[in-house]
Amino acid sequence: MTRLYLHSTDPEVASKMKPEIYAKILKRREELTATLQQIETDAHTISLEIGCGHGHFLTAMALKTPKEQFVGIDVNRGRIFKARRKAERLGLKNIHLLECESIEFLKLLPDKIRIKETWILYPDPWPKKRHFKNRIIQAPFLEALASASILKGKLFMRSDYDAYLEWSKELLDQSGEWTVLPNFEWPEITATVFQELTNNQHSSLVAELNPLKE
Ligand SMILES: C[S@@+](CC[C@H](N)C(=O)[O-])C[C@H]1O[C@@H](n2cnc3c(N)ncnc32)[C@H](O)[C@@H]1O
Repeated sequence: MTRLYLHSTDPEVASKMKPEIYAKILKRREELTATLQQIETDAHTISLEIGCGHGHFLTAMALKTPKEQFVGIDVNRGRIFKARRKAERLGLKNIHLLECESIEFLKLLPDKIRIKETWILYPDPWPKKRHFKNRIIQAPFLEALASASILKGKLFMRSDYDAYLEWSKELLDQSGEWTVLPNFEWPEITATVFQELTNNQHSSLVAELNPLKE
């Protein structure tokens, strides 16, 4: 199913859409806003996984750190369904798994909740130049993530496609807000589905929201 994502309620964008489609987008945004308001976190911070797929990684994190809150998002309904089933089976109360798109999520996240860590593991690489626009990591995405994160918040990214990591490093450097850390320790919690599919091939990066440039 093709899903439409709209990152603003810009009247010019809306005027070019079929009214019934625009109405559906607004309804979905309202529902997501209401769901996000219900997230309770004592520390007002969450760890976020974007493109959490079947939830292998995030459920393992939530199990390991029961006092912290975790949010996993994915645009794929079937994967979110499976991730929720896994969280239920494990009896997890500190995880929220939502079918939604990354920028939409970041824009609608209430101010009372800020992101401490963001994980993007094996994102779709979109290797063809004409498809680069579909990659999650883009300048407006990094800006929205910075606005929704705490100072010194971290972005953890892992991929088997080095060219995507290079692309991401360049955009992080250009952002003026994120610093790619020269040295870091990657917490090996569990392999993701795509990590297994690629026989554990990967390169990783960790970036920090740089407080000096705030
Ligand atoms: C290659 S899979 C990796 C899944 C999982 N992280 C793993 O390593 O097994 C990429 C996932 O990102 C999701 N995705 C792609 N673009 C997204 C976006 N803009 N917002 C949220 N999820 C997205 C896809 O639906 C897919 O489930």
